[in-house]
Amino acid sequence: MGSMRQTVDLRVDKPHSARMYDYLLGGKTHYPADRAAAVKATEGWPGLPTAARANRAFLHRAVRYLVREAGVRQFLDVGTGIPTSPNLHEVAQAENPSARIVYADNDPIVLTHARALLRSSPQGRTAYLDADLREPNTLLEDPQLAATLDLSEPVALTLIATVHFVPDHHDPFGAVATLMDTLPSGSYLLLSHATPDFSPEEINNAVAAYHAGGIEAQVRSYSGILPFFDGLHLLDPGLVVITDWHPETTPFGPPAKSDVSFYGGLARKP
Ligand SMILES: C[S@@+](CC[C@H](N)C(=O)[O-])C[C@H]1O[C@@H](n2cnc3c(N)ncnc32)[C@H](O)[C@@H]1O
Repeated sequence: MGSMRQTVDLRVDKPHSARMYDYLLGGKTHYPADRAAAVKATEGWPGLPTAARANRAFLHRAVRYLVREAGVRQFLDVGTGIPTSPNLHEVAQAENPSARIVYADNDPIVLTHARALLRSSPQGRTAYLDADLREPNTLLEDPQLAATLDLSEPVALTLIATVHFVPDHHDPFGAVATLMDTLPSGSYLLLSHATPDFSPEEINNAVAAYHAGGIEAQVRSYSGILPFFDGLHLLDPGLVVITDWHPETTPFGPPAKSDVSFYGGLARKP
């Protein structure tokens, strides 16, 4: 009997946002088309690699906060990206080894690296869904979700640097609302999102580089991102530049807002 192996078309001739991000973070999973598009985007917005690192740091701080301060032990991470250590489950399980994480992404390259995301602590659990934020009901119906998370207990939905890849015509607001509607009271939404508010010309250059590579993207202003939190209670300090969200002191000080150009926030479902 042959083993069940999924074959995936990685389309290495085209840039992919997950592989461009991996390149910007100094990872190893990218091809010439990804590097060329990432270089073009960075020429247009030199802050992009700084923003990518700031996003990872925001993810780490916020996940630690959710486990330590809010007692959350379940996560649904949509738009996971190529594994970059420490991954979300490593941060959460370092705080609480019984934490359970469901990862989801629609890029086949992430699927091929999912094994690294499945190295859970023995007490906890992780799963990977090949799923699309634009089809939230299909994502929610995946049997691995119910097998991994107890949907009668709070879950943190994490959307880090993901939603700006879903333009309005795909109704990202409806998709996030559908996911949050399914999660019980006391659940959380953690979101970070690129914005043109601080350096519109540079950000629009970067968006143009993604579009030129055939990648859909839509950056949003502060007031354009806020509705993702409709019906939820935004926790202090609100929707802020990610480096201002519960910052940790470093000897270097925060980078310029124009280099970060990402808002982030954490909200609780009443
Ligand atoms: C910039 S990466 C962010 C990765 C990770 N969340 C982080 O912050 O390090 C964006 C990810 O979102 C994924 N993505 C984009 N559109 C998506 C969609 N409609 N459904 C699921 N994932 C999506 C991409 O494949 C990519 O892996």
